[in-house]
Amino acid sequence: MKLFIDSANVDEIREIAGWGVLSGVTTNPSLAAKEGRDFPTMLAEICGLVDGDVSAEVVATDRDGMLAEAEPLLAVADNVTIKLPLTSDGLAACRVLADRGVRTNVTLCFSTTQAILAASAGATYVSPFVGRVDDVANDGIALLEEICDVYAQAGYGTQVLAASLRHPQHVVQAAAAGADVATLPAKVFHQMVRHPLTDRGLEQFLADWAARTASA
Ligand code: G3P
Repeated sequence: MKLFIDSANVDEIREIAGWGVLSGVTTNPSLAAKEGRDFPTMLAEICGLVDGDVSAEVVATDRDGMLAEAEPLLAVADNVTIKLPLTSDGLAACRVLADRGVRTNVTLCFSTTQAILAASAGATYVSPFVGRVDDVANDGIALLEEICDVYAQAGYGTQVLAASLRHPQHVVQAAAAGADVATLPAKVFHQMVRHPLTDRGLEQFLADWAARTASA
């Protein structure tokens, strides 16, 4: 399972990219708006920080508007992936872009039927929102598992990108479900790397080594 960072903040993307674990980036209009910056400029900086796909989302709600918005985004960098909402217009735009060989991420997926439609429209990625399903007292991981199973059975080429992951256990469950990609906020990367036994063990190793050097 590849790891993407779900962020539009250049500093945190640079930091996690520096760990050598990142295969891509997902942004969304809420994350981008939070930065308060010119979007194409920010997108160009982000695209330069990773080798993999960087999802940039359209905000038009009609097919032709989405396609028009996609053009300047695609001109920013070769690794821009166009993110489209899972609506009938989003699917129609996905089909047009897929037929041109443009990489797409169909987002706001909340059901297996929607995921089947995204694959049928030629999406590169489909993004089930695990945490937001949990938020309404349903089981986001169960939805992810069903989508992964159905995709494997049907032989779809679309990659399952587990999104709206809120904590490290979601990441483990996404990998166990067979997701192709997990996108997570910087905070979850930090939660994943820290372990008190690592800190304690390292502290002990360094103390023992310092003592040996001192007595040598
Ligand atoms: O990639 C989608 C993600 O940004 C949504 O996360 O936590 O706002 O549901 P969240």
